[in-house]
Amino acid sequence: MPTVTINGIECEFTKGEMVIEVANRHGIHIPQYCYHPGLSRPAQCRICLGTFEAPNPRNDNKLEPMMGGKLLPTCTTEAADGMVATIESEKAIANQKAVMEFLLINHPLDCAVCDQAGECTLQDFSYKYGRGHSRFTDTKVVGPKKNLGDHIYMYSDRCIMCTRCVRFTEEVSATKELMIDSRGDKSTIDIFPGEPINNELASNVVDLCPVGSLLDKDFLFAQRVWFLKRTAGIDPFTSSGDNIWVEHNQGRLYRIKPRVNMELNTWWITDEVRYGWKFVHSDDRLTAPTRKEHGVTVDATWTRAYRQAIETIRAAKDSGAGAALVVSPNLACEEAYTLAKAARMIDANTKLFLGPVPVDGQDTEFPNPQAGKPFIMRAEKAPNARGVRRVLEAHGGCEDFDAFLAQAGDFGAVVLTGNYPSPWMTDALVDAVASTKLILIDTMRSPLSDKAHVVLPGSTFAEKAGTFENRDGILQTFEQAIPNQHESKPEGQIGLDLIELAGGGTLEEHAPGFGAQVVDEQPGQVPASDDSILLPRAEFYDPPALRQRMADEHTDLAVFTTEVRTAGTEEPVESDMEMVEL
Ligand code: SF4
Ligand code: FES
Repeated sequence: MPTVTINGIECEFTKGEMVIEVANRHGIHIPQYCYHPGLSRPAQCRICLGTFEAPNPRNDNKLEPMMGGKLLPTCTTEAADGMVATIESEKAIANQKAVMEFLLINHPLDCAVCDQAGECTLQDFSYKYGRGHSRFTDTKVVGPKKNLGDHIYMYSDRCIMCTRCVRFTEEVSATKELMIDSRGDKSTIDIFPGEPINNELASNVVDLCPVGSLLDKDFLFAQRVWFLKRTAGIDPFTSSGDNIWVEHNQGRLYRIKPRVNMELNTWWITDEVRYGWKFVHSDDRLTAPTRKEHGVTVDATWTRAYRQAIETIRAAKDSGAGAALVVSPNLACEEAYTLAKAARMIDANTKLFLGPVPVDGQDTEFPNPQAGKPFIMRAEKAPNARGVRRVLEAHGGCEDFDAFLAQAGDFGAVVLTGNYPSPWMTDALVDAVASTKLILIDTMRSPLSDKAHVVLPGSTFAEKAGTFENRDGILQTFEQAIPNQHESKPEGQIGLDLIELAGGGTLEEHAPGFGAQVVDEQPGQVPASDDSILLPRAEFYDPPALRQRMADEHTDLAVFTTEVRTAGTEEPVESDMEMVEL
């Protein structure tokens, strides 16, 4: 394999790779602003420059300086066998310092109030390559704050004109809302009058902006980024399987960011995935179990509500009407498994249905040329219809929701699961279950939560782990980010509890966070979980152990031990600052 030597380190490369790409892949640090692997390379910022030598075949392959020893951009110089690139040469370092000084001339010194502080490469590189003081004595150019779209503000005097944002709207979303207006130190990024940047991928430009010029209105002044922890997740709102980071602190979500997966979402996510999480902390969350007594809804303990649910299903069985279980496509595969097992344990003839799978129009494709394939926004607005169907079919059959609606009135009891991020109940559904005893497992208040015989509050995607199967049949795990809100439980835990009680066992009281792998405590921070609340439960809902059990019990589910892709975990960043107790 050909090799290029970068800063004295010999690196293998594949033909067509730029020197900066080889360096990034080998963990060799080269400062960079305008370069991004998902965009074209204009070599605009000039900070990645290095000195180059290459073997000259007309001189016994002796190394000779390229371009007469002039500095060349590593982001547009293709690696060649035997090439030697030095980004630590005296000349290259002098250039880095000059570029930093130039970029900082008009940049405001407002890191203390800038959302980007802590993840700003201008801040990082000015520590590494900048001067300790400014030689600039004139007045800085002050730019306006602009409202660019529904989700994006621009603080224009922080812009370093890397043009990543403009190239994104030209090349990836192909919507072209952004442009460079004027020239020289008057240059500014802007939208065309009356044409805000509101495309379905718009907020990726906030991620791309290497400084705090483009800001997410939703995250503005919400949290210092160094307090945030990241948990690996999978798009919980559509069938894309896109990889995400769920960022949170002290038991609260703050933002969702893309997690690079070159097979699926590449570097991007849609705004619908980015901002869909608000229901997690909604005031309309179902907070505790309830049950009907003499036609009136009353608060219930988990154990009392479980017992009433089991009695209801047994009564339906004894009456000959039987029961139905509707498993939402928002639940994880492991949860579908425990709920189906519980329902079949209480009544072996319980019919199994897949919940409604919302579809909004058709898939939308965006060019994404550097990835060599389009980025696709999925029309199917549920993450796991295929996974739930796979698990229910292994339990002996899975019918569609339309079939359920047609038969709903015949059942003596219906267990209905929801967990949709927005209101999902139709009049047809409310009418269909009007004459049956309804056991509702859901996250938000709804027309049916007042009518249900038993209501069990479920947990959202952020409060549990599990596996989703995307529209291409790729099985991927996601991890629990925050503790369960209020008294809610993962539907997978509810299934395990019902199995235990239906088998004549008992539940033990545990703190809700007990056993959960929620890493949310760092020195100087407040623990997220409230361990003073005790909730009864059976064995702990443990998705890896359940996947093994699923494979052991059903040959059709063996894929859950062989095909599941496990979400990566991020190494915690060690602070170089000493923490002191205050
Ligand atoms: S707004 Fe940000 S991404 Fe756009 S050109 Fe300026 S610095 Fe680059
Ligand atoms: S990263 Fe190479 S010129 Fe900007």
